[in-house]
Amino acid sequence: MSAAHRAARTSSESGPLGGRLVLIAGATSASGEAVARALVRAGATVLAVGTRQEALDRLAAAVPGVDVRACDLADRDAVAELAMRIHLKFGPVDGVVHLVGGWRGGGGIDGQSDADWDFLERGFRTLRNVSRVFFDDLVASPTGRFAIVSSTAVDKPYAGGANYAAAKAAADAWTRAVAQGLSKQAPQSAATVFVVKTLEGLEDELGAAVVRLWEVDAADVNGRRLPLEAARMDG
Ligand SMILES: NC(=O)c1ccc[n+]([C@@H]2O[C@H](COP(=O)([O-])OP(=O)(O)OC[C@H]3O[C@@H](n4cnc5c(N)ncnc54)[C@H](OP(=O)(O)O)[C@@H]3O)[C@@H](O)[C@H]2O)c1
Repeated sequence: MSAAHRAARTSSESGPLGGRLVLIAGATSASGEAVARALVRAGATVLAVGTRQEALDRLAAAVPGVDVRACDLADRDAVAELAMRIHLKFGPVDGVVHLVGGWRGGGGIDGQSDADWDFLERGFRTLRNVSRVFFDDLVASPTGRFAIVSSTAVDKPYAGGANYAAAKAAADAWTRAVAQGLSKQAPQSAATVFVVKTLEGLEDELGAAVVRLWEVDAADVNGRRLPLEAARMDG
C-alpha cells in the first residue's frame, strides 16, 4: 500500500522533489510559508500543519497546492492520528520540516519564568512527537529528510534568554540523535539542524536550503548543524 502510494506520487509529479511527500510541522509563520512555497515549486506534495485553522486557510490561499491540516502536535495521540490519516490518503512521508518554536525571554536568570519554560517545552514536545511518530517513514523513504531550525543562542546563551537557549539546545540535541538513529538504520536519510540568529529576511534562504537537502548525499547533511546565513553565501 505504502509503496504503491509512493510510486503513484512519483509518476504524477515532476521537479527535483517530484513524488516526495513533505510535512511542515508548524507551517503558518512567514518561514513556514516560504518553505511550503519552495517545496511546492520543487515538485513536492506538501502537508502543512498548525493549530489555527484560519492561519492554515490563509497559507493554503497564499501557496496553491499545499494541503493543510489542523493538529496540536504537542498531543502525541493527535500526531499518531494525523499520521494514520496521512498514510491512508498519501502514504508515508519523505520529509519533515519542524518549525514550531516561539521565543520567550526575561530579566536575567531569576527572571526565567516557569510559564515561559512551559511554553518553550511545549514546542520541544511537538518535535519529540513528530520525530517519534514519523521516524519509520524516514527510515523507509528512499531519501528521507528531517530538519529543524535551531538558534545561535545554543552556542552563545544569554542569561535573559536561558529558557529559550535551553529549549533550543534540547531540540538541537534531539535532532542530532535522530540523525544518529538514521545513520544506523537508513543511511540514505538524514536529519539536519539549520542554525540562525534571526529568521527575519532569511525565510526564502530557509526554503532553498530545505530543498537543497534532497540535492545532496544524506551523509553530507546528516547530523550537521548548518548556519543558514552561510547557506545564503554558498548559494
Ligand atoms: N524567528 C526567528 O528569528 C528564529 C530564530 C532562531 C530560530 N528560530 C526557529 O525557527 C523555527 C521557525 O520559527 P518561526 O518564528 O518562523 O515560527 P514560530 O513562531 O516559532 O512557529 C510557529 C508555527 O508553529 C505552529 N505551532 C505552534 N504550536 C503548535 C502546536 N502545538 N501544534 C502545531 N503547530 C504549532 C504555529 O501555528 P499555530 O499558531 O497555528 O499553531 C506556527 O505555524 C522555530 O523552531 C524557531 O524556534 C526562529
